[in-house]
Amino acid sequence: MGAGVLGFDPGLLRSIAERVGTPAYVYSTNLIRAQYHALDDALQGVRHRICYSVKANGNLGVLRVLKQLGAGADIVSVGELRRALAAGFDPDGIVFSGVGKTPVEIAEAIQAGVGFINIESTSELAVVIGVATDVGTPAHVGIRVNPDVATDTHPYTKTGEKTAKFGVPFDEVAGVARRIADERSLVLRGLAMHLGSQITDVTPYQRGTAKLLELVSAIRAAGITTLEALDVGGGLGVRYHHEKAPTPKAFADAVVPGVKAAGLGLLCEPGRYLVANAGVLLTRVLYRKHAGGKEYVIVDAGMTDFVRPSHYNAHHEIIPLRDGKRDEEIVNVVGPICESGDFLALDRKLPVVAPGEVLAVLGTGAYGFVMSSTYNQRPRPPEIVVEGDRYYVARQRETLEDLTRGETAEPTTWYRT
Ligand code: LLP
Repeated sequence: MGAGVLGFDPGLLRSIAERVGTPAYVYSTNLIRAQYHALDDALQGVRHRICYSVKANGNLGVLRVLKQLGAGADIVSVGELRRALAAGFDPDGIVFSGVGKTPVEIAEAIQAGVGFINIESTSELAVVIGVATDVGTPAHVGIRVNPDVATDTHPYTKTGEKTAKFGVPFDEVAGVARRIADERSLVLRGLAMHLGSQITDVTPYQRGTAKLLELVSAIRAAGITTLEALDVGGGLGVRYHHEKAPTPKAFADAVVPGVKAAGLGLLCEPGRYLVANAGVLLTRVLYRKHAGGKEYVIVDAGMTDFVRPSHYNAHHEIIPLRDGKRDEEIVNVVGPICESGDFLALDRKLPVVAPGEVLAVLGTGAYGFVMSSTYNQRPRPPEIVVEGDRYYVARQRETLEDLTRGETAEPTTWYRT
C-alpha cells in the first residue's frame, strides 16, 4: 500500500508492529515539525507564541519536539504542568486554562512561574487572589473571556457560546479586569478565548478577536496598561476525511491584523492541528465474521485505545499496511470491548483484509492515547516516536501488573469517622 499512509513509511510501520506489537500509537516528528513551521511562518507578521495544547497528546517525546521548536504550552491541570516542565518548557510560555482549577493547582502554577493563569469566573478569581497572597509571589493572570461566538463543530467541543461553562461572561470582563488591577498580588497580562475544537471556518476567529479587542479598549480606557497579549485559543481544524481545513494563512489573516494594530502579542493554543495527522494507531486483525447481513472485521484496538469514533462518531481513515491490489467490501471494523458502541468504523468500504494483517488508523495523533482507558482491564498501548528512518518507544505498553498497582484485596487499614 504505502502511498495511503500519508507521511509514514509502511515498511517502518510494519517493523514497529512486529517489534512492539499491536495496538500501538506511532507519531512522526517530521510531520509535527512541518505543521509547526507552517503556522509559525504564517504568523510572522506579529510577535507571537504557539502554545501547544498538551491535552491533545501529552507524550514526553512529542512535547520534547515542540519545546525544541520554541513552542509554549497550553495546559489544563497540574498533571499537564508537570509534563510540560519535565519536557523543559519555559514556564513563562505556559497558559493555564480550565474552569475547575483547584487551589493546590493554582499554588503550584504560581510557584512554577506560569505565564498566564487564565481566570474563568469571579469565584475562581477570589481563590487566585487568596492563593497568591498566601504564596507571596504575584500571579501572572489572563482572563478567559466567553466571547459568545458560535462555531460549526461537534456539540461536545463548542466552548465559546454564551451558555457554555467556559470563560468569564463578556459583560463581566471589564469589571474582573478592574478587580485584578486593584490587587497587588495579581498582574493582568492578557485576554484569552477558546471557541471550540475542529473549527474549519476562520470567521469565528475573526469575530472573537474583534470582541476581545473591544474589551482591550475598554480595559485600557479604565487606565489598565499591563496587557501584553491576546490569546485566540486553539481549535484549528484538520482534514480527517473530506473536511476543508483552514490554511495557516487564512487563520493568520483572521487574527493577526487586529492584534498587531492593538500593539499586543499573539498567543494561540493549537493541539489537534499540530499532532492529529502526525499519528497513526496500528492494530491487527484478529478475526472476521459475518452476522446479520454485516461483515465484521474484529481488530485488537477498541474504544479503550481510541474513543473518537465511538464518542463523537468521528471518521478516521483505515488503511491496510500490506501491499497489493485487492477487492473492496463494506465492513464494520470493531474492537474487543463488550459494548456495541465499540467500533473504529461502521459501514466502511475497505480492501478485503484477513486475520493477522496490520491496519493503520489515521489521524490519531490528537485525542488518541490521552483519551484511552483501561476499561475491560486492558493495558493501554505503547507510544512510538519516529524520527526520520528510526524510532523509539517513548512510552512502554502498560502491563497487567500496572493495572492492579495501588489496589489491595485484603484490607490493610480500616478507618472510622
Ligand atoms: N485551548 C483550550 C482552552 C482547549 O480547551 C482546547 C481543547 C485547546 C486549546 C486545543 O484545541 P484543539 O486545537 O486541539 O482543537 N477530545 C475532543 C477535543 C476536545 C478539545 C478540548 N479542548 C476530540 O477528540 O475531538
